Amino acid sequence: MRQPFHDIALQYDFLNDLLSFGIHRFWKRRLVAMLLKSRPQPRLVLDIATGTGDLAALFSKKVQTTSIIPLDPCSPMMDKGKLRFPHLKNWTVGRAEALPLKSKSVSIASCAFGIRNFSARKLAFQEIARVLEPGGLFGILEIHPIPAKLRYSPFRLFWNSIVPGIGMLFKQRAAYEYLRDTGAGFISSEDMVKELAYAFKLKTHKKLLAGGLVSLMVFERINEPENNDE
Ligand SMILES: C[S@@+](CC[C@H](N)C(=O)[O-])C[C@H]1O[C@@H](n2cnc3c(N)ncnc32)[C@H](O)[C@@H]1O
Repeated sequence: MRQPFHDIALQYDFLNDLLSFGIHRFWKRRLVAMLLKSRPQPRLVLDIATGTGDLAALFSKKVQTTSIIPLDPCSPMMDKGKLRFPHLKNWTVGRAEALPLKSKSVSIASCAFGIRNFSARKLAFQEIARVLEPGGLFGILEIHPIPAKLRYSPFRLFWNSIVPGIGMLFKQRAAYEYLRDTGAGFISSEDMVKELAYAFKLKTHKKLLAGGLVSLMVFERINEPENNDE
């Protein structure tokens, strides 16, 4: 699972801008603004699957860097992030499935385009529920399978052929086939809402692209966890 991001770390930001026409930056700003509007003074912000640190850097415009933890299992991605955002502290090597944090210590957890890479999603969700304080927020940006109504649209051609093709130009075809395949094999945002319902209340659910190819969601940690075995 980790290999694709090790391989593309140096080119990740450039290719991200190229393949999304830069629009991912706008989505990320929107997610961070929504989260900080609801929690203007978070105790601790955890950016899971931070990669090269985009979300963590956006949080740092309003939140002290000592209160922000950018976390990712892939050191080369975070090494790139450290060069981009030298003011960020607390870079942490770690996986969502085993968060190195105390229970109920985090006010905001965020994850942009990371969940579909988790090796054990349900375990990761349990961990996120564990570390969030009651009423804490979990903000997500994610790519889902192409909605059925767009099966024969230019989106499918772009996603299935052009994305790996551009990856090939940059000698990273396998990594970008992985990106396509993890999106295609992933669940819809509606199913993600169901998976999180035991511990989270949905506050915002927006379909940002092509009726559901990309979603933005904000969840609130429910006060009384059903299964509290901490
Ligand atoms: C597509 S990148 C997203 C990076 C960044 N959040 C962004 O939006 O630009 C996915 C990231 O998920 C990380 N990742 C993979 N498996 C993970 C796991 N189990 N827990 C946390 N992060 C993981 C990868 O190392 C990679 O940096």
